[in-house]
Amino acid sequence: MRRTLILLTAGAVTAAAAVVALSPTANAATTLGAAAAAKNRYFGTAVAAYKLSDTVYSGILNREFTSVTPENEMKWDATEPTQGSFSYSSADTIVNRAVANGQKVRGHALAWHSQQPPWAQNMSGTALRTAMVNHVTQVATHYRGKIDSWDVVNEAFADGSTGARRDSNLQRTGNDWIEVAFRTARAADPGAKLCYNDYNTDGQNAKSNAVYAMVQDFKARGVPIDCVGFQSHFNAQSPLPADYQANLQRFADLGVDVQITELDIEGSGSAQAASYAAVVRACLAVTRCNGITVWGIRDSDSWRASGTPLLFDGSGNPKAAYTSVLNELGGTTPSPSGSASISPSVSVSPSVSVSPSVSPSVSPSDPQTGAGCTATASVNAWNGGFVVTVKVTAGAARISGWTVGVTLPSGSAVTNTWNATASGSTFTNVSYNGGVAAGGSTEFGFQGTGSAPSATPTCTAR
Ligand code: G3I
Repeated sequence: MRRTLILLTAGAVTAAAAVVALSPTANAATTLGAAAAAKNRYFGTAVAAYKLSDTVYSGILNREFTSVTPENEMKWDATEPTQGSFSYSSADTIVNRAVANGQKVRGHALAWHSQQPPWAQNMSGTALRTAMVNHVTQVATHYRGKIDSWDVVNEAFADGSTGARRDSNLQRTGNDWIEVAFRTARAADPGAKLCYNDYNTDGQNAKSNAVYAMVQDFKARGVPIDCVGFQSHFNAQSPLPADYQANLQRFADLGVDVQITELDIEGSGSAQAASYAAVVRACLAVTRCNGITVWGIRDSDSWRASGTPLLFDGSGNPKAAYTSVLNELGGTTPSPSGSASISPSVSVSPSVSVSPSVSPSVSPSDPQTGAGCTATASVNAWNGGFVVTVKVTAGAARISGWTVGVTLPSGSAVTNTWNATASGSTFTNVSYNGGVAAGGSTEFGFQGTGSAPSATPTCTAR
């Protein structure tokens, strides 16, 4: 009896010792996404739709990342190659796959001077402003509820010491183009975080000071902005600045989230690994730093592949930089020494909410029934202006055209319209959206000055 007890006790001690010895490994995450999730952050990558059929690429994507950013597929040239005709298939492929895998999506980018379709490049003035507002509305509406954060405006400030806006066709439509883009995006997708995104703003300098002043002004005036993206493309000419963390923190202190949106660091070996670790440390030290996105998976996927700036080599093997990022996030690489049986099966389970509550800032009252259609409006208003999105829904039979009447308060005026033709405050379908199947719906919108309309629109079908 005594012998049995001694043996049992010895066994218990051994088991306890084993638990103590194994627990650090057993608790640590073994992927970037899981390790970041344990720190309440996402770890994302830019994704190219045409690479998803590459199994090495998609294998790493599924295993390591909890957020994706379409690298080119959501840009204006990709989503609206012809004015008013939208093309979402490549971006949809990325977004649907991400949603199915529980990954967040960063939308990139709604309004940008670069990668505009030729028709927009050739536009100016009111026509371009209207086209931009329509583009932002259409794309943000298409992805409503699926985007964690949108880069609403990208790279709008000039490099160098002036702190000026970058000259562009969008800037020449008027200095308010940025806030109009943000207000329009908020109206179209009230659940997404809306970010301003730029490069060479990673440390304190004239350009980041100018962005800082804009964010401060937007917060003071109620322009909807939720986050600032710091692209963080680093190399010998543009190294990681010493005040990186301080710069992130000063923006966070304005009351916005900060995100590292396009990280890549040219170089190799321990120097590259140390810079990556420093970026992760900075984000972890700033409470409002939501997450980090690297701009591609393997070095060969990078827009500057010759600089080998990413975390995986061309064959998909993790580099020293990968290990340093994982370690800095509190994770650990699985031990290669036959300890597979004790390495944890850590479920990545990113905490992803892909269906933000979508609630218009002004709820419409009950829809009014016209001859075969109804119309409802959601309104985003600010002091002196508004954006209205109107949903036209067909009744029990298909309709081939519609006219919506809106009552505008005295002194208010419609300044631009998309997906409809306006005559005063009466809106009629355009060629491509008059036909609506029974029970189906289509949307149009308009922007105006003065007080927003509050009465429910009327709808008449043809
Ligand atoms: O798909 C076409 C291909 O059919 C054609 O043969 C080839 C010939 O040039 O071009 C291919 O398209 C290229 C596309 O990347 C896809 O690879 C475009 O020319 C090329 O301009 C485009 O470059 C992208 C660049 O933005 C354009 O400005 C990069 O992939 C993309 O990584 C880069 O991303 C930007 C961010 O959006 C904003 N911040 C800077 C960042 C790096 O430049």
